[in-house]
Amino acid sequence: MITVKTVRELRAAVARARSEGKRIGLVPTMGNLHAGHAALVTKATQRCDFVVASIFVNPLQFGAGEDLDSYPRTLAADQEKLLEAGCQLLFAPTVEEMYPDGMAGQTLVSVPGVSEGLCGGSRPGHFDGVATVVTKLFHMVQPDLAIFGEKDFQQLAVIRKLVRDLNLPIQIIGEPTVRAADGLALSSRNGYLNEEQRAIAPQLYQTLSDIAAALQHGESDHATLLDDARTRLSAAGFVPDYLEIRNPLTLRPATPADRQLVILAAARLGAPRLIDNLFVDLDATA
Ligand code: PAF
Repeated sequence: MITVKTVRELRAAVARARSEGKRIGLVPTMGNLHAGHAALVTKATQRCDFVVASIFVNPLQFGAGEDLDSYPRTLAADQEKLLEAGCQLLFAPTVEEMYPDGMAGQTLVSVPGVSEGLCGGSRPGHFDGVATVVTKLFHMVQPDLAIFGEKDFQQLAVIRKLVRDLNLPIQIIGEPTVRAADGLALSSRNGYLNEEQRAIAPQLYQTLSDIAAALQHGESDHATLLDDARTRLSAAGFVPDYLEIRNPLTLRPATPADRQLVILAAARLGAPRLIDNLFVDLDATA
């Protein structure tokens, strides 16, 4: 695996692979890689001949007071994991390389609708930052396909829409969330949890699973279901940010006609903010 830091080197390496007829896959990340990221790379190796990963902690998607400065940067360990998972090329640019003219006047990609509410509501500007950096990476690499984790469900919806709306010839693949044995979704931010918080954290997924089970059993009073679950999360020590049942395609509040649903949650446990989601297919039990 080669690591490059400039767009020029990146384009040259990708052009070489493409001239050899290789199908190019991209796995964008912010580093501090875990088994969830490795699964994205492994999936890419199954679908492509040449896998590019990027590691870039994108300042444009962090709000004031968020964890940009403390976000874990672990390049050497990440390189080993990428190599092991079968990645051929790592792009690890500096902020100056990605935003040579600074970020103040940066052209932004803004995806209406699916960016609004949920994480977009609590993190204003976050999805503009994500959509902008992902669009830049897409233009730099011009991959045939790109893989993202389903843990960031809203992010995946934003990226799918931007690819459709901007006619980008890139296949987007969502990869299921990888979980610890106790159900906690793997996340780079789990490292912020202290021992006590780590013991409580799996209750977020447990709560989503209980809501899913109630829905599968025919419960249709979403408001009461969600209120009870919020109370339970608060009692466990979480400060819920949102807990919603939505249509998985539009991310609009689910209607009684929706047979596919996604339950989405974000909650603070002390300072760390955890997000998770669970897809429910009501037809699967019919
Ligand atoms: O999911 C992430 O790690 C980031 O939001 C992404 C997609 C790499 C863009 O910076």
